Amino acid sequence: MAKDGDNSWKEYVWNPRTREFLGRTASSWGLILLFYLVFYIFLAGMFTLTMYVMLQTLDDHKPTWQDRLSTPGMVIRPKADETYEIVYNIQKTESWDLYAQALDNFLSPYNNTIQAEKNNECKPDQYFEQADSGEVKNNPKRSCQFNRTILEDCSGVNDRYYGYQDGRPCIIIKLNRVIGMLPGKDGQAPFVTCGAKRYKIGKDEWREDSEKIGELLYFPPNGTFNLMYYPYYGKKAQVNYSQPLVAVKFLNITTNEDVNIECRINANNIPIGSERDKFAGRVSFKLRINTI
Ligand SMILES: *[C@@H]1O[C@H](CO)[C@@H](O)[C@H](O)[C@H]1NC(C)=O
Ligand SMILES: *[C@@H]1O[C@H](CO)[C@@H](O)[C@H](O)[C@H]1NC(C)=O
Ligand SMILES: *[C@@H]1O[C@H](CO)[C@@H](O)[C@H](O)[C@H]1NC(C)=O
Ligand SMILES: *[C@@H]1O[C@H](CO)[C@@H](O)[C@H](O)[C@H]1NC(C)=O
Ligand SMILES: *[C@@H]1O[C@H](CO)[C@@H](O)[C@H](O)[C@H]1NC(C)=O
Repeated sequence: MAKDGDNSWKEYVWNPRTREFLGRTASSWGLILLFYLVFYIFLAGMFTLTMYVMLQTLDDHKPTWQDRLSTPGMVIRPKADETYEIVYNIQKTESWDLYAQALDNFLSPYNNTIQAEKNNECKPDQYFEQADSGEVKNNPKRSCQFNRTILEDCSGVNDRYYGYQDGRPCIIIKLNRVIGMLPGKDGQAPFVTCGAKRYKIGKDEWREDSEKIGELLYFPPNGTFNLMYYPYYGKKAQVNYSQPLVAVKFLNITTNEDVNIECRINANNIPIGSERDKFAGRVSFKLRINTI
């Protein structure tokens, strides 16, 4: 019995009488392979064709699909590392010189001469719209000058250490680029305000460093992002775009203690980030200036 079973198994794998391999003749196997080959070539062809058609409909200069207007994120400079902590000792030059250098690098594209060469002098307080007329693309698009000297005491021109050396440091804030964003209606420009950040110190216990912040000075005045820098049309359409900046100078911040600060954007048509999206429209950081 066992031998019989053995034989039928062997015969199933290779039957010399009918010349079948695993129950099929060579031509049957050949047909199956051919079928799958044609099938996969067809699939690959379909995929390529779909991709090609998709790519044809995309516009190089503007994303086809974009979420509804959301609140843009904000970032600060100088950025020491991944955490936004600016800690230095006035007595130790090397501890703050790095921050001044980082700001020098960050601001060098905003040098007046460079801006004058690359960008337009625009009419302030109104959007600089350069719409395409239907299929006719209005590219490349011009951008507006943001001269470094607008930042006055925080421009690094008069005070090359940005106030770090005397405990009155400058922080520079920018809004992330959002294509097509019009951040304000009725001619009201968005502006930045900074204040104490509410932070948790224990279960249901919160604290604010309001008394430690001292007086603040904003550049340009009132911390506004002028409307003429919007809308932004994207990196390819607007090659020379310079993001507008706001600088905040801390005139009398408490030294030798951590001070937790939060800056936010105020605009009459973009909602402030909800609890769900903590980083939208605001940025927080820690500032600690040691004097001893
Ligand atoms: C920008 O101007 C500063 C002086 O204000 C100069 O040191 C720096 O080299 C300039 N940067 C560029 C890129 O021209
Ligand atoms: C920027 O600076 C350049 C050179 O000083 C000047 O010609 C230009 O008018 C300034 N632009 C604005 C918008 O102030
Ligand atoms: C960008 O800047 C360069 C000079 O650096 C200028 O020649 C060019 O015309 C500018 N392009 C646009 C679209 O503003
Ligand atoms: C700053 O804001 C105040 C009060 O809102 C206003 O009176 C003043 O004109 C503003 N200054 C500038 C330069 O926009
Ligand atoms: C600076 O702040 C301290 C309290 O932190 C206060 O006593 C002092 O009057 C302030 N100085 C000025 C010039 O506002």
